[in-house]
Amino acid sequence: MKQLVLATHNRDKTREISALLFDLGVGVLTLDEFPQIGPIPEDADTLEGNALLKANAVSRATGLPALGDDTGLEVHFLYGDPGVYSSRYSGEHGSYAENVAKLIAKMKGVPPRRRAARFRCALAFVAPGIGVRMAEGLCRGNILERPRGTGGFGYDPVFLPAGFDRTLAEMDLSMKNTISHRGLAMQGMLPILREYFQTELRT
Ligand code: IMP
Repeated sequence: MKQLVLATHNRDKTREISALLFDLGVGVLTLDEFPQIGPIPEDADTLEGNALLKANAVSRATGLPALGDDTGLEVHFLYGDPGVYSSRYSGEHGSYAENVAKLIAKMKGVPPRRRAARFRCALAFVAPGIGVRMAEGLCRGNILERPRGTGGFGYDPVFLPAGFDRTLAEMDLSMKNTISHRGLAMQGMLPILREYFQTELRT
């Protein structure tokens, strides 16, 4: 079976991306299967740069095609923060809950009309023989004052997507994947992956 390595240890991202890749019929590996690779510095100053750093490092180390995901939450009132620093918003080892708590505190008292935000997901695909392919997905919405829901991960409980009355954390995986930044980025990336793996859809 053909294989693709997701350049991440993040189980939440892996769960979402694996569901989106199901029809491709390739074996999906993650960095958990390659402990020798060690931490990959994510020191680019853009999401695209970090997605590419991860995919490049993993494809080079494994000799396999690799997919990198870098995602940020961009809050208008905070001039685009936490953006590329979303995972480290409350410090290098901050948890999802600590990051959300910091965001809620920063947005305290901000009126509803000024709480617009968007998730942006950059995907980079690097494979021997084809070089680099990129895709991007956006999900617009608003930051809530209090978390709602137990699904998803990260900032999902405080993110209400535009046009919906449920937060991303109140949606099931397939609903989130239909409207999310990551799902939309994968819609752009899937034709590239299909062409690369020359795999017929299992309808
Ligand atoms: P990174 O792409 O691994 O740098 O992750 C950035 C951070 O953004 C993660 O630690 C999460 O807190 C958050 N994040 C990434 N993707 C999502 C998502 O789909 N929903 C909510 N938060 C996310």
